[in-house]
Amino acid sequence: MQEQIKNINSLEELQSLYAATFGKNGTMTAKLKNMKNLDNDARAELNRENSELRELFKVRQAELETAAMMAGLQKQKLDVSLNREPENNGSLHPLTHTLADVSEILESFGYEMWTGPEIEDDWHNFTALNTPEYHPARDMQDTFFLENGNVMRTQTSAIQIRSMEKTGAPIKMFGIGATYRKEMDATHSPMFHQIEGLYIDKDVTMSDLIADVREFLKKFFEIDDVELRIRPSYFPFTEPSIEIDLKWQGKKWLEIMGAGMVHPNVLRNCGINPDEYQGFAFGFGWDRLAMLKYGLNDIRKFYDGDVRWLKSAGF
Ligand code: PHE
Repeated sequence: MQEQIKNINSLEELQSLYAATFGKNGTMTAKLKNMKNLDNDARAELNRENSELRELFKVRQAELETAAMMAGLQKQKLDVSLNREPENNGSLHPLTHTLADVSEILESFGYEMWTGPEIEDDWHNFTALNTPEYHPARDMQDTFFLENGNVMRTQTSAIQIRSMEKTGAPIKMFGIGATYRKEMDATHSPMFHQIEGLYIDKDVTMSDLIADVREFLKKFFEIDDVELRIRPSYFPFTEPSIEIDLKWQGKKWLEIMGAGMVHPNVLRNCGINPDEYQGFAFGFGWDRLAMLKYGLNDIRKFYDGDVRWLKSAGF
């Protein structure tokens, strides 16, 4: 019996042997019932046997329970030392990389970063920018109009209005954010991003503008010198207005940004006296800058959220 208990390998078997021994009709129960017919030595022997068996059952039960628990733990085992490369590791978006570079450069020139609402009122997106209602230049941008008369911001120029209204002159800021226009192809997305610089003080001139743009482009594209072409252009909020082209890799001219001296009406609209202050503004496509820097050719991919594209683009 003792050997039998020690060799049992399952709790169920142990329990049934226990019942067969100590249960109502158990072998030991029967022996104990017969105790009164035994002599003293035999009684002592039976008592000893009784407690030995009970102890053996208890020990074996504890052993089997521990073994069951260990087997369960073994099944759940997690090898935390196993080194598995994640298949789809996310990374920073090209626009995020670009903004980090752009803001580092512009902040080192003393420009302070601003943002503004993407749903704009007519005043900040158009009227204050010297583009009153029925002004033909409103057609330059295919605007998304909202039912309440607001618009989806078509240009970050709205942020320069907000910044001038808030802090007045002098001011040196850049605004960043999403902008919206009804257009869509490989180089145009209905939602895209702009970055816009503004510098207003007592004696800021066009040559300051060109110097800052030149230094900015040199630092951003990490090139020793940049060849620029300045073309006359038109924006209602700058006078004179220019467009700046960059000679790309010694070959073709790329239109890189619009700029100009802030129109006196714009300063006036923001409570700044144009006889005292003057300055420049420049604006460019944030996405376009990222596309050039990283050699990407489809702006729409920026907004697909596709990790495979990010990977193939080298991010
Ligand atoms: N807001 C102009 C555009 O979206 C760009 C611009 C900004 C031009 C600032 C001049 C000065 O086309």
